[in-house]
Order: sequence, then structure tokens, then C-alpha cells
Amino acid sequence: MRKIYFDHNATTPVHPEVKKAVEPYLSEQFGNPSSIHWAGRDVRKGVEDARQEIATFFGCQPLEVVLASSGTESDNLAIKGVAFRKGNEGKHIVTSQVEHPAVINACRFLEDHGFRVTYVPVNRHGIVDPEAVRNALTPDTILVTIMYANNETGSIMPIPEIGAIAREAGVIMHTDAVQAAGKIPIDLGSLPVDMLTFSGHKVNALKGAGGLIVRKGIEIEPLTHGGHQERGRRGGTENIVGIVAMGKSFQLLRHGMEEEVAEIRRLRDKLERGLFERIPELVRNGHPTLRLPNTLNVSFRFVEGEAMLLNLDMMGIACSSGSACTSGSLEPSPILIAMGADPTDAQGALRFSLGLGNTDGDVEYAIDAIEAVVNKLRALSPLYPSTREAKAR
Ligand SMILES: Cc1ncc(COP(=O)(O)O)c(C=O)c1O
Repeated sequence: MRKIYFDHNATTPVHPEVKKAVEPYLSEQFGNPSSIHWAGRDVRKGVEDARQEIATFFGCQPLEVVLASSGTESDNLAIKGVAFRKGNEGKHIVTSQVEHPAVINACRFLEDHGFRVTYVPVNRHGIVDPEAVRNALTPDTILVTIMYANNETGSIMPIPEIGAIAREAGVIMHTDAVQAAGKIPIDLGSLPVDMLTFSGHKVNALKGAGGLIVRKGIEIEPLTHGGHQERGRRGGTENIVGIVAMGKSFQLLRHGMEEEVAEIRRLRDKLERGLFERIPELVRNGHPTLRLPNTLNVSFRFVEGEAMLLNLDMMGIACSSGSACTSGSLEPSPILIAMGADPTDAQGALRFSLGLGNTDGDVEYAIDAIEAVVNKLRALSPLYPSTREAKAR
């Protein structure tokens, strides 16, 4: 069976160059980077070269890069790290209703520990209004944390404007750029952002590695106390293989991102055009243009996203639905609900996220397969108008 992977926002395949770059670290380069002998020094060089690559990619200093185990850990480090350090100056945090659970649940944890959190709404395209952030600020606010781009819809937030508002108010600004990094240009040289999260496995590196950029002068409390790794900001022997992999990925992106993104955007647009031309009653979720170049989220009216997902899986197509299974019932995606989507439309939503390795052939096969599955499921749906009309005849 043909296998098509359209779930790159969940995770990505490892780039062949990345695989090559990490090989020595699976064999002869085994030292502990904190050791001062030759075995440690060689590995330390690998880590520091990777840190330099990451810093160059984002336009910051290597010392500002804190290497961690994931995007999730880095979001937690940013949010709790500021709360624990600055909790005596204020107890209010501003975030949005459409953040990843890594941010939402870190904020909920802090709510249980005496902090107050404002979850600003989004418009129908899933975008935060900078003025809503401004209006949410109070003299007690210590942190604004708004994602750069949404994982489900790909909608891109006005981070330069939101960061400027936070800066003007003297409030620390964090952005979760796990989905944005490698898909849209980010330059911390000009971006008014104090902390930024990234993750390796979303950029063709490895799972279990990510990081937080903490700009000079911003102090956070570490969450993992231990050795002096990462200048005391994150104890624990480093995930060398994961770090070297990220360094290689960001190096590759620095040289080839524009071209790669243009090709992925072309394929995503072809998929979008094909679906809208061939299938009636579709709703696109997310901003028409202010959207990640690889992401397409569509509601197929009168069908269940989960049923579509399973049927497409049987045809070799891997994609994703935003629904969450809570106590046996399928809850529509909270992100789409926050955008004001009709709950039944939200239940029919699927996310296709393209990336390295996808081809025109994949897109053409997928359009045919999706059309066939939608037709099959709609024929079974008593809610679908033409089915209703047929039954009435
Ligand atoms: C926006 C966003 N933030 C954070 C994460 C978590 O990253 P990780 O899987 O590295 O923990 C994800 C992963 O899906 C994400 O999409």
C-alpha cells in the first residue's frame, strides 16, 4: 500500500544529513561533555557547535540558548521559570485560548499555585488581537506567552506587535515557536521577544530534544536542579545526539529554508485547491494567508473527522484530527471552538501538514482518496442534504 505522510506538525522524518551528522555520537563520540579529558572535550565541541548553529539560525547569542529535552519542557521552563523567579513582583500571566497544552497546562498549574492567568480570545481565523493583549495587562503582569503559529490551523500570530506591547509595559515576552521555526523567518535581532521555544523533532531532527532561547538579562528559575549544565539553567547530562541533530537541522534550514518552504507551500496549495474544487461543503480553518506554508486544516461538513482519519489511514494516508477523546466521547478541538467554529463543523476537521519528502504524486493520490472517503461517509450520513433528499424521494 502506498504510504503518504501528511502529519509533519505532529513530527517529521529525520533528514538524511542529520542521520549522518549524529552517527559519530552513537559510537566513538561517547564522552560526557562536562568531563575535561579528551573524550569529554570532543563531545563538548559537538554540543557547542550545535548551540552556535541554533543561535545563528535565530539571530541570538549561543549563551542565550538553553538546550532541553523538548518543546514541552522548554515551554514549562519559560513559564514556570519566570513565575518562580518573579512571583514576588507580580502574579498575573497573559496567554491565549489556543496555545499548545504545554503552555495551557503550565499556566493551569500556576493557577493552582496562586497565579492569575488571562486567556485572551482569538478571531475567527485563530489570530490574537495585539490590543486584546494590551487590554489584558495589569500592573501585576509578569509574563506574556503567545505562540508564534498554531499547530492545528497554522495561523500566524502578530508576534512583533504583541512583543512590542509587552516590552513597552516592561513585561517579559515568551513565544512558543515550535511550529513556526523552520517554516517562517524568525530573527531575534529585530523581534521584541525575550524567550522563544523550539523543538528538534518538528524540524527533521530527533525526538527528545528542544530548547529555550533566553535573551541576555532575562532571569529564570531552573526547573531541574542538578549539575551546572546549561549555565545552571537546566541540570542533567545533555542529550548529545538530539542536540547535534538539532544543530544540523537548523544549519540545513539556514541555507535551504526558502527553497524548501516554497516547494511545500506549492504542494499544500495544490492540495487545498484540489479539495475545494472537487468536494462541496468544505470550510477552511485558519487564516487564508497568514498561515504556515505547510498546513491545511479543513472541516468536511456532514462527516466525522475521526471516521475520515481512520478511513484515510486504511488508504495509507497519515493526517490528524484535532478532536480529543474524553471519556469515550469525541470532543471537538478546543482551538476551533475558540475560533468560533460550529461544533459539528469542528468535529469534521482534519489537519494535513506537509513536509520533507512529499511529492505531487502524494497530493494527487490524496485528493482522489479524500474525495472517495468523503463521498462514502456522506452517503451514510442522514444529515447530508443529498442523502436526505434521496431518502425523501
Ligand atoms: C505549538 C507546540 N508547542 C509545543 C509542542 C511540544 O513540543 P514537544 O513535542 O517537543 O514536546 C508542540 C508539539 O506538537 C507544538 O505544536
